[in-house]
Amino acid sequence: QRSLFGLKDLSQEEITSILDRAAYWEASSNKLNPVLHEKFVANMFFENSTRTRFSFEVAEKRLGAQVLNFSAAVSSVQKGESIYDTVRTLESMGIDAGIIRLKPNGVLAELGEKIKVPLINAGDGNNEHPTQGLLDIYTMRKHFGALKGLTVTIIGDVLHSRVARSNLYALQKFGANVQFCSPDNLRAPELNAPYVSMEEALRSDVVMMLRVQLERHEGGMMGPAEAYREQFGLTEERAATIAPHAIIMHPAPINRGVEIDDAVIESPQSRIFPQMENGVPIRMAVIERALA
Ligand code: CP
Repeated sequence: QRSLFGLKDLSQEEITSILDRAAYWEASSNKLNPVLHEKFVANMFFENSTRTRFSFEVAEKRLGAQVLNFSAAVSSVQKGESIYDTVRTLESMGIDAGIIRLKPNGVLAELGEKIKVPLINAGDGNNEHPTQGLLDIYTMRKHFGALKGLTVTIIGDVLHSRVARSNLYALQKFGANVQFCSPDNLRAPELNAPYVSMEEALRSDVVMMLRVQLERHEGGMMGPAEAYREQFGLTEERAATIAPHAIIMHPAPINRGVEIDDAVIESPQSRIFPQMENGVPIRMAVIERALA
């Protein structure tokens, strides 16, 4: 039984085995493969989610698991119950694994010391979002065949982005060249990757846009949306200049017309909706790994 807290501590071989297993599940012609029919999995979201929460639920149901959906907004968290007490409560009821999304950094590591069932990180603070990182590199591997030597530029709000961190950690293990492009006040100088201009970013194999995380911003960090779009947005004009083999990615949700123009989101080079599609087999592989 294996937890998944992040990609920083996973080896290239372990990541490859998850990607390969996801490819197996993607190719499966059966929608239901009830290999986990005696297992109970709790989805515990202490922060909002659409894609991650529902693709985990689809993945669990496709594997035949019994699914419990916990939502902080309608739980005893509203009466002041702690995250630990909540997770411990579900563990005491007999869950076999927990999927957990948290606002604060650091809490997941504490839970990992006290909770015995495997936990899968569905995004914690600005630390890591490992299943998003996995589905992103799965999407790149599907398009390019290999990750070694790819230039991947992650553009936007790197400071607040757990997606940027998980992608950086995983892609560097595979020999990809990861670079960032951000306004000065949305950079994360502790991360080991160079910052490039928007002009250079558009020469990449993968142009990965990030959502400006307005909910994590103190007033005025981004400035006016139009000014942000002009300097760092993937506008239709900019998207028209990327190489024909290059792809456009975004983890979503999207601020349409801020970090990316409407017309680019479903353009032929965009992989934004395929990323969401790939989230299901990736999460099937991760849940299976946790409970096998
Ligand atoms: N990409 C992602 O994590 O989306 P949600 O916040 O909707 O889960």
